[in-house]
Amino acid sequence: MSQLAAIFALALGAWAHARGLGALSNELGWSQAPHAIAADQSNADDAVLFDAKTLARIRQHSPRPAPPADPTNRVADDPRAALLGQRLFFEKRWSRNGEISCATCHDPERAFVDAKPLGEGLTKLERHTPGLLDVAYNRWFFWDGRADTLWSQALGPFENDAEMGGTRVGAAALIASDENLRADYTALFGAPPDVGDAARFPRDAKPSDSNAAANALWLAMRADDREEIDRAAANLAKCIAAYERKLITGPSPFDRFVEGLEDGDPEKLGALSPSAQRGLALFVGKANCRLCHSGPSFSDGEFHSIGVAPLAGPPPRDSGRHAGAKLVREAPFNAASRFSDAPDGDVAQRLATVRSGPEMWGEFKTPSLRNVGRTAPYMHQGQFATLEAILHFYSTMEGALAVGHHQETVMQPLKLDETELADLVAFLRSLDGADVAEELKRAPSGG
Ligand code: HEC
Ligand code: HEC
Repeated sequence: MSQLAAIFALALGAWAHARGLGALSNELGWSQAPHAIAADQSNADDAVLFDAKTLARIRQHSPRPAPPADPTNRVADDPRAALLGQRLFFEKRWSRNGEISCATCHDPERAFVDAKPLGEGLTKLERHTPGLLDVAYNRWFFWDGRADTLWSQALGPFENDAEMGGTRVGAAALIASDENLRADYTALFGAPPDVGDAARFPRDAKPSDSNAAANALWLAMRADDREEIDRAAANLAKCIAAYERKLITGPSPFDRFVEGLEDGDPEKLGALSPSAQRGLALFVGKANCRLCHSGPSFSDGEFHSIGVAPLAGPPPRDSGRHAGAKLVREAPFNAASRFSDAPDGDVAQRLATVRSGPEMWGEFKTPSLRNVGRTAPYMHQGQFATLEAILHFYSTMEGALAVGHHQETVMQPLKLDETELADLVAFLRSLDGADVAEELKRAPSGG
């Protein structure tokens, strides 16, 4: 299409769209919006024309609605809870050595990742630290989905002896003794547990499979005391989740481009380079990435094995969703538990549908692709340093694990050429949204 013709098609499309002339649009092969034209007017051959089917697929990814409500957390959208949660997110005192906070690994200046292949807290972890931007959109949490709510997730790292090594009794003691934390907590939930008697509330007590001493102290506590501590820990976790729910990015270049497809504004259509537009067409078309990276978050929220080998080389030892499915059903703080504010709600009912079969061995959660340009390295062990390396993998399936006879066999080498690989990378880079406000990226000041 010549440059003039492209501009004409665009103008006519916008006009037809504005008039609601669906018939004209259809006749011309447009669904409801004009074709995109290339932003680079110097080379009109670059013009990318999307057919109606492609446009319909593109619209499934944008605009993005507000994140889903979380009825399991009654303070999920309470600003006071978010502020307390933000304090706790940057709080180092509740880690065993007093040096680690959530922000140590989830660095706000790096899209809440640590930029390392494997997370490192008190010791090195087995998995890669995911980013927390837009985390409120996720359905399951952790690479294996062993948490079903954002708040119950937070109880993991804080007590895990490889991460922060804290205890829930220690956290309750911190809240009770720190004037600011205590006041914030009391305003939301009433007075925190009175843990003044350290013999009755041993600071090192927590339930643990790996720490026998801590576990013995915990089991020696009175059942009603344990219950009170558990409730306080759940409350603190719900505040952290309230903070994390605010980490929502603004529209990405891709979102602006889709708006342009709707209203014909050439400036918005210019948000994607011709290369990124071709990458988009591949993503929803021939490369079929949308099969798993679907919807506005570019994730189906489910688990798949795409055959990425462990960082240390085969054989794989991490069973991923196979273990995660069992863990989430049995988790003491899951959405159906007595600590949930909606134990009979939709999230809790989803648990009943969680199966764990042998085919799930080695499956990991499909990550969202929003902000993916900022969160290298990638995959559940940070196996790939760059987006280029990921596309090379999908294109060749070089180094992929042999698929067990129970597992899915959807991944075929895509055999993309150099231009197609570069186009897909350009498209992925257009998914970085506007960063969150500066005041969310540090501990709140003052008391
Ligand atoms: C030592 C590094 C480290 C610390 C400290 C840490 N995390 Fe993480 N975080 C990780 C790693 C690694 C994972 C993935 C673990 C897995 O999937 O098994 C993760 C996963 C998550 C997830 C799941 C995201 C998703 O989409 O699945 C959330 C949310 C999260 N962390 C929040 C927190 C909070 C809140 C804290 C503080 C209470 C915290 N993290 C402390 C390393 C850390
Ligand atoms: C069968 C489902 C499926 C298909 C199809 C698929 N992906 Fe993925 N993708 C996943 C899963 C699952 C992971 C995480 C795997 C892991 O950590 O081992 C992933 C990881 C990624 C990551 C890393 C994200 C991060 O934050 O670590 C990128 C980027 C990505 N995929 C892009 C693509 C592109 C581009 C395509 C099309 C060429 C594609 N994917 C096709 C399921 C899929």
